[in-house]
Amino acid sequence: AAEPLVLGIETSCDETGIGIVRGRTLLSNTIASSMDEHARFGGVVPEVAARAHLEALQPAVEAALAEAGVALADLDAVAVTSGPGLAGALMVGIGAAKALAVSLDRPLYAVNHLVGHIAADLLDEDAPPLEYPTVALLVSGGHTSLLLVRDLTSDVELLGETVDDAAGEAFDKVARLLGLPYPGGPEIDRAADGAAGPAGDATAIRFPRGLSRASDMAAHRYDFSFSGLKTAVARWVEQQDGDIPVADVAASFREAVVDVLITKALDACARFEVPRLLLGGGVVANRRLRDVATERAEAAGVTLRIPPLSLCTDNGAMIAGLAAELISSGRRPSTLAFGADSTLPV
Ligand code: KG4
Ligand code: ZN
Repeated sequence: AAEPLVLGIETSCDETGIGIVRGRTLLSNTIASSMDEHARFGGVVPEVAARAHLEALQPAVEAALAEAGVALADLDAVAVTSGPGLAGALMVGIGAAKALAVSLDRPLYAVNHLVGHIAADLLDEDAPPLEYPTVALLVSGGHTSLLLVRDLTSDVELLGETVDDAAGEAFDKVARLLGLPYPGGPEIDRAADGAAGPAGDATAIRFPRGLSRASDMAAHRYDFSFSGLKTAVARWVEQQDGDIPVADVAASFREAVVDVLITKALDACARFEVPRLLLGGGVVANRRLRDVATERAEAAGVTLRIPPLSLCTDNGAMIAGLAAELISSGRRPSTLAFGADSTLPV
């Protein structure tokens, strides 16, 4: 059979992502973000995100079809993120996907956002095929999850996730207390690299590495915690009399986050004897994270995979790609009965 032509809709957070794939071939990946509308609130506001999706969807679908050079009638299936994510935001995408599938009389696939992040890797045409099993570390403003992937379509196990703030959220909150604008990740990155002078010293302040002792990781526990780190930075800043050495604080904070993420991901690789690590999520934009992951993975004999950033941040192509994979594996489509599930498990 010919490879299925699938349109994927992603609206779990602030990105309206529409992607079109043919099997594992990426045809288009359009993204409209409401990030700017959330900036003055210092974080994503659910109602604002939902309304923005509603406005962005139709033009985004049209743009994706034009970019892919296909018509709606050509589609073999429609896919949509049904969770986890913001309930209202998810509902807008689900409503649109159901309307499309019903009006075109095509099968509809409800898929998991986190598993979608893993599927993004399949669309990277420059990389050799994904091998199993692999450990996947997904880090964004909305999630921080460590997964053991034995098979993308049937066997993904959650090893751990954040018990409080997501890694990107920690960047956003610390940026705010340093007086830097939202989104804070890129701002902290720039400040640490010395945007306003010399580069920061990552060893200047020893911030805590939450839940990363060997005993924390024993018994297969790979949860993350970043709120203690955020509080430690706030305390440290409060205790200074004079000017805050922003570059040093940013570099030391970034180092603590990166250290925890990579230490735990590689510990899981060792424990489960999986010599492969895949990164995903918007925080992958962090240069220091990519550098430390590259160095330490190599030292540990672990093959590291980092898809291009356009596939790491939230997007519709990964949702379409996952559905194409499910179709190839013989999975039946979803019935129309599903709804948004903000805490959908993998
Ligand atoms: O995946 P994404 O675009 O959207 C979701 O959150 O789902 O990720 C955005 C998050 C924000 O928290 C942002 O601050 C963070 O990723 N981020 C970064 C960097 N660029 C974006 N964090 C650290 N360093 C960066 N360079
Ligand atoms: Zn995501």
